[in-house]
Amino acid sequence: MSRTLITGGGTGLGAAIARELAGVGHDLVLVGRREEPLRSLAEELGAAWQIADITTGAQGLIERCGPLTHLVNNAGHAHTGAVEDWSAEDLRALLEVHVVAPAMLARAWAAQAPQGGCALNISSTLATRSAPGLGLYAAAKAALSSLTRTLALELAPRCRANALRVGVVPTEMTQGRDLAALAALHPLGLGAPEDVGAAARFLLESRWITGVELPVDGGLLL
Ligand SMILES: NC(=O)c1ccc[n+]([C@@H]2O[C@H](COP(=O)([O-])OP(=O)(O)OC[C@H]3O[C@@H](n4cnc5c(N)ncnc54)[C@H](OP(=O)(O)O)[C@@H]3O)[C@@H](O)[C@H]2O)c1
Repeated sequence: MSRTLITGGGTGLGAAIARELAGVGHDLVLVGRREEPLRSLAEELGAAWQIADITTGAQGLIERCGPLTHLVNNAGHAHTGAVEDWSAEDLRALLEVHVVAPAMLARAWAAQAPQGGCALNISSTLATRSAPGLGLYAAAKAALSSLTRTLALELAPRCRANALRVGVVPTEMTQGRDLAALAALHPLGLGAPEDVGAAARFLLESRWITGVELPVDGGLLL
């Protein structure tokens, strides 16, 4: 049985990935900073859960939760601000959660992962394009995409690394955004968390796919 740690596993896309993987028998560890909603989802799915801020102590987190087959680097936060409002503090915070923590978690996970294990990074269409006001977040996701390729190269042939390049899916993170305007940019309209869950399962379970960043974006990048 696969044991899979999902950061940000209590809400939004992380919760949908957890539901999908629980349905095919993964033994799950859900990680986040808030007890709710982690506890209730973990109870529903029969999963383990850990309160942790992923920007502190990646090695310890993997040791407490392991041994782990797969790692899903999903936790994150958005940030909006035009160039004139950028600050080094905001950029550092974004890089900590979207790049530094996933890299350190992947390093600790890889040290104990079995043959066939996979690290899956939840990236964004903003890794390859930009949007006004989202430049710092886009830069952090672009770095996460680069990390995915290096992990895939260096961990082969024992383990794999892949990413999902997600378009707009209504979650806590998109609250306050103009969803009707965003939907108009997606030929297939906005996604649902379950769309991301299904794609995550596909990449985790594949045997011969590594280093890809699969668009799950309703055609946004066409
Ligand atoms: N929704 C979209 O349209 C979209 C599109 C592209 C990519 N994404 C990416 O998808 C991922 C999930 O986002 P979402 O849309 O599902 O939003 P969400 O519901 O706000 O989920 C973010 C999760 O990350 C956790 N988290 C944030 N900072 C953390 C930290 N320092 N340590 C541990 N956990 C932390 C949050 O839990 P706590 O607050 O309890 O810690 C929360 O469960 C993110 O990486 C996001 O960038 C989302």
